[in-house]
Amino acid sequence: MASFECFLICFVLILLPSSSSKAYASVVEHTFLVQNFTAKPLCKEQVIPTVNGSLPGPTVNVREGDTLIVHVVNNSPFNVTIHWHGVFQLMSAWMDGTDMITQYPIRPEDRFTYKFNVTGQEGTLHWHAHVVNLRATLHGALVIRPRAGRPYPFPEPYEEALIILEQWWNTDIENLQLRPAPLSDAYLINGLAGDSFDCSRNKMFKLEVVQGKRYLLRIINAALNSHLFFKIANHSLRVVALDAVYTNPYVTDIVVLTPGQTVDALLHADQTLGSYYMTTQLYVSATGQPFPDKTLANALVVYQGATSSSRAMPSLPDVTDTQTAYRFSSSITGLVSGPHWRPVPRNVDERMFMTMGLGLEQCPPSMQCPGLYGQQFAGSLNNRSFENPKTFPMQEAYFYNISGVYSDDFPNQPPIKFDYTNFNVSTDYEYRMLFPERLTSAKILKFNSTVEIVLQNTAMITAESHPMHLHGFNFHVLGQGFGNYEPSRDVGKLNLVNPQMRNTIGVPPGGWVVLRFVANNPGVWMFHCHMDAHLPYGIIMAFIVQNGPHPATSLPPPPLDHLECCRDAEIYNHPTYDQY
Ligand code: C2O
Repeated sequence: MASFECFLICFVLILLPSSSSKAYASVVEHTFLVQNFTAKPLCKEQVIPTVNGSLPGPTVNVREGDTLIVHVVNNSPFNVTIHWHGVFQLMSAWMDGTDMITQYPIRPEDRFTYKFNVTGQEGTLHWHAHVVNLRATLHGALVIRPRAGRPYPFPEPYEEALIILEQWWNTDIENLQLRPAPLSDAYLINGLAGDSFDCSRNKMFKLEVVQGKRYLLRIINAALNSHLFFKIANHSLRVVALDAVYTNPYVTDIVVLTPGQTVDALLHADQTLGSYYMTTQLYVSATGQPFPDKTLANALVVYQGATSSSRAMPSLPDVTDTQTAYRFSSSITGLVSGPHWRPVPRNVDERMFMTMGLGLEQCPPSMQCPGLYGQQFAGSLNNRSFENPKTFPMQEAYFYNISGVYSDDFPNQPPIKFDYTNFNVSTDYEYRMLFPERLTSAKILKFNSTVEIVLQNTAMITAESHPMHLHGFNFHVLGQGFGNYEPSRDVGKLNLVNPQMRNTIGVPPGGWVVLRFVANNPGVWMFHCHMDAHLPYGIIMAFIVQNGPHPATSLPPPPLDHLECCRDAEIYNHPTYDQY
């Protein structure tokens, strides 16, 4: 009797999980060949690093719950890593693809295999190189659709289209290291510059639509350093997800994305037969900053059966229209009843107030620096500029207790309180505040603790929207505003009910934003400005999330090839792109 019972139960236990996982999850495998390739989106040929010879790189399509395996073969002259921007990497922090944080960079002629599960999230994300600036051309879409048989929480679109916004330079990628970075020559939509440039009149992305149908646009801002508006003439868009988190439908005629952000929006082809421009345009949040001459790129929505050759043009906002950008980024709310929604955690364990902005750093001898006081630009969080480790990746140092790689004293507030958005250099102390300390410092978090961060932009050098990106988690965006954050005035306005969730948020220029997340994923996670030009500035810190109480809540050791790849190299002596 007992053994019969066991037979039945064991049978069920053994069969059910495997049959159900067969029904729902599969393994998606890709090979990424990183190699130089000659591209010519404008008039000049330019050698660029690519994945599989294409710009943008290959699209990775998975369903929620799938396992993704990507073999990266590095045939380029650069050290690279590939980061899966926005993927939680639950219990797989070794696969996050951050150079010298979770792994050594993959050297030329080396290879490395990323393997992880994509669970608990749906929508549009992207992958990109994480070694600074290589992301300009090493990027592509990562689309996570619902499990088989599960619908979207919005009307089923007739078709889907990727819209990848990119930034292009007619120069070798090495030259982008300069501080400040050189101005770009064009923006691209799906690799094409469109008809506002002489040599690309016929190289323009066209989306063919059928009148009356709905299209799901998966819009990705893959630009290295630019916030971008996106608009389609005569059409409104219905936003349904941000950063692969569903939102309440939000109808708008314009969208804005910081570098790293994504927007999923439904386009209803409800206009008369014809052609309509879809245009991306630069948004500059800082005043008095130089910006590129070419501020926009065109693509086209073409109705099937349209006969006239006229093309309607959208009216675009001013390049510095912060109000329009702010309206879009602060108006969208989370879809509480939707798949994967998580309520806002109410009890906060760690409260952090983080100042964020630019600063200065000693000009290297033999160089002419364009920054204030003849110095070069830097940046900081709580007046610390991050220094990437040079010996061991941080996570390896943490996991194997190797000392001397980082310090775990990242502070919960800046060294002093001051009038953040009215910074003046009138005292010695204020002058010294302009020169943040270079340190590799991390903040340790207990497993499952709730963290609240008030990010406060400063007016040091200039107030500017920095898009802050958190690896390993989505955060709730409880509120945002301009000026100094004032708890007595602002706490009451925070949205604890249905705030949007994201992995990247642009802090309003000269303003603040309040975020909350639950540290339920052990590992070392970067939190940084997603303008690549600001990585060498040091607008970065790292969270180290400790293990939970069980093996299932603890970070397993790295897979073997993780340690085999790249470890022995004098990685900084390679004739490659020197990081930072
Ligand atoms: Cu999309 Cu750390 O980056």
